[in-house]
Amino acid sequence: MSGDARKTAEQLTYLSGFGNEHSSEAVTGALPVGRNSPQRAPLGLYAEQLSGTAFTEPRAHNRRSWLYRIRPSAAHPAFTRTDNGTIRTAPFTETAPDPNRLRWNPLPEPPEGTDFLGGLWTLGGNGDVTQRTGMAAHLYHANASMERVFSDADGELLIVPERGGLLLHTEFGRLHVEPAHIALIPRGVRFRVELLDGSARGYVCENYGAPFRLPDLGPIGANGLANARDFQAPVAAYEDVEGPVEVVNKFCGNLWRATYDHSPLDVVAWHGNHVPYSYDLRRFNVIGTISYDHPDPSIFTVLTSPSDTPGLAGVDFVVFAPRWLVGEDTFRPPYFHRNVMSEYMGLIEGAYDAKAEGFVPGGGSLHNMMSAHGPDRETFDRASAAELRPQKIDDGLAFMFETRWPVTATAQAARAEHLQRAYDDVWSGLQRHFRPAG
Ligand SMILES: [Fe+2]
Repeated sequence: MSGDARKTAEQLTYLSGFGNEHSSEAVTGALPVGRNSPQRAPLGLYAEQLSGTAFTEPRAHNRRSWLYRIRPSAAHPAFTRTDNGTIRTAPFTETAPDPNRLRWNPLPEPPEGTDFLGGLWTLGGNGDVTQRTGMAAHLYHANASMERVFSDADGELLIVPERGGLLLHTEFGRLHVEPAHIALIPRGVRFRVELLDGSARGYVCENYGAPFRLPDLGPIGANGLANARDFQAPVAAYEDVEGPVEVVNKFCGNLWRATYDHSPLDVVAWHGNHVPYSYDLRRFNVIGTISYDHPDPSIFTVLTSPSDTPGLAGVDFVVFAPRWLVGEDTFRPPYFHRNVMSEYMGLIEGAYDAKAEGFVPGGGSLHNMMSAHGPDRETFDRASAAELRPQKIDDGLAFMFETRWPVTATAQAARAEHLQRAYDDVWSGLQRHFRPAG
């Protein structure tokens, strides 16, 4: 089964480009021409619009798609509450916001039969989901493919696989992602996750705010960082399934379920720009210094969710990808700092150049607003004495969810057995080197 799924995944084709007005039809003639909602849609399909932004938002930021489906989404029975499992939602009030630096090991093994939704485990977040502000940081660890279908009315889901390939079956078609890729499921889009390697784990940023977009490039110019053409959207593919299908809907922090008499992944054709997409982080065009000093890590921004204040992101997704370090008379690892923004970092593979040990793939660290952090003692000592030859950082892929508000941990994260109890020690023993003149 999984072998077939992998073959399917590897043969998929995609539409390319970020934010494009894509169109796709799985059956020739399914897309109406010249209008969105003809009196009778082609092939007996139902026309339906899915809005990702308010109708009236500026054209440059407006997101919506038109779906042509076997049954309209409205054809469903009432939803009833179901258990939230280990998913939590803003406002986060289970613990007091913590000024301490926190670091976790990877999630433990889940029970047999845990699918992606059941394996979602919320670390913390900020904002208020009913105000469509803020974000949540989740991890997932799954060992079963989803039989049910999920959608999140509360925000878009940025999935960052760390182990195990995923085949995402969405209303818009299928996406194949592996570790070092990301996938984004827009707000409200239904999908299910098929595992390609028996188990999978990774990270999810649930963005309650404005949809992620590419950052402006300013003086960098017209190219660089994540290039728009490298983002991939699915081509239309549909399930024509009659029979009971469990559908779970996350709405204002709670999970609701209903049993449909058909699969809601029944979209035969679509057009628009509110679409799922994937991106290979290895295609990120890393820009850094060719003279001195380490640039601020905003130079590594892949995607940004802007707030109402120019330049202030609700959340940025940032990647620390393989790159050359050539700065002269420069302390080359990320510098010590205190940041008004709050930083959740994870590791996809290898090691991160500011931490010699303890920050492992599948784990993560939280450095909240104004918490002092930077290289650990071992890294500081090594980098301060290193000969500054050109050096390739090529054995790691780390990322950050950087957000405008402090991240409050969930109770399960604050009390987790995999929370490292002695993280502060990495900065202990930083020697006094000060010698007044003479
Ligand atoms: Fe930082």
